[in-house]
Amino acid sequence: MKILAFESTCDETAAAVVEDGRCVLSDVVASQADMHALYGGVVPEIASRKHVEVIAALAEQALKEAGCARGDIDAVAASYAPGLIGAVLVGLSFAKSVAFGLGVPLIPVHHVRGHIAANYIAFPELEPPFLTLAISGGNTLIVDVRDYTDMEILGSTRDDAAGECFDKAARVLGLAYPGGRPMDQLARQSAGGVYTLPHAQVDGAPLDMSFSGLKTAVVNLAHHADQVGESLDRAALARDFTQAVSDALVPRAMEAARQAGRRAIVAAGGVAANSLIRAELERACRRAGCRLYLPPLSLCGDNGAMIGAQGYYEYQAGNVAGMELNAYATRDISEDLPGSLSEEMND
Ligand code: KG4
Repeated sequence: MKILAFESTCDETAAAVVEDGRCVLSDVVASQADMHALYGGVVPEIASRKHVEVIAALAEQALKEAGCARGDIDAVAASYAPGLIGAVLVGLSFAKSVAFGLGVPLIPVHHVRGHIAANYIAFPELEPPFLTLAISGGNTLIVDVRDYTDMEILGSTRDDAAGECFDKAARVLGLAYPGGRPMDQLARQSAGGVYTLPHAQVDGAPLDMSFSGLKTAVVNLAHHADQVGESLDRAALARDFTQAVSDALVPRAMEAARQAGRRAIVAAGGVAANSLIRAELERACRRAGCRLYLPPLSLCGDNGAMIGAQGYYEYQAGNVAGMELNAYATRDISEDLPGSLSEEMND
């Protein structure tokens, strides 16, 4: 089954053709990051407008690179949530038009389910159940993946996502948006141990996380140093910050795996590209005797192939949407098909 898939939840427009959930025939991504870097973060209206401009050309390119004619496509999949709502609407509306025009099913895909499914592409042997640490720019979740479309959230951030925290901390250190990768490079230049940063706990919810205090601490340190004319050890701060993020994520993921009785741990999302977090996950999994799946860096960030991969399993589970399908800025990963349009309007 060949699925033409679209992703547009933030600042990447992406289209891909994926066969039977695991075989990527094409995967094209147009990043807008350079444009948003001018403003130090994603400007939602610019993101939506850029998606509008490029999505049709990307669809053509994805078909061409896959060697497919339009008639070869069996279904269309698209991210319908969560994300910047204007951005999600562009990809979803375009996907609907394509499905309508081709007369093929429309498959709604939760964006974070897509991030998890990137691992099905990288690891052909990987099958649920497993425990996932899904860490991206907008989401930070510890998820028990019981089956391809059956998931339970065991832990989540109460405020900022890990990636958002990286981006804000990077900004005060003078690094370009998106800040995760340059922070990673800067952190590698220091052994750290210089700055004491908060490690938040959520009362009564030990698997939940909070990153806003950590973000504020880095911002305050940088502003204070600036005000009193003190020099900041930027590399040490980047290292200590990354360690604090890793300390929040890795032990909780391991504890969640223990509680859920999972021996396989899967990392997903843009922040899963971080070298320290990857190393700490490797160490923790080795110690606990768990098998670790780390997606290649090319599949950590947003892409269309991951939507096509998850789309296949949503289709197998009967999760096909009607043309009234709406887009959602937030949506629980454990929910299946969104309600009908009339239900939605009564909410
Ligand atoms: O998964 P993604 O591309 O988009 C969302 O679905 O949100 O994740 C983007 C996030 C950004 O916050 C970016 O700074 C972060 O992933 N990121 C990293 C690294 N590479 C990208 N964070 C830490 N270390 C990295 N190497």
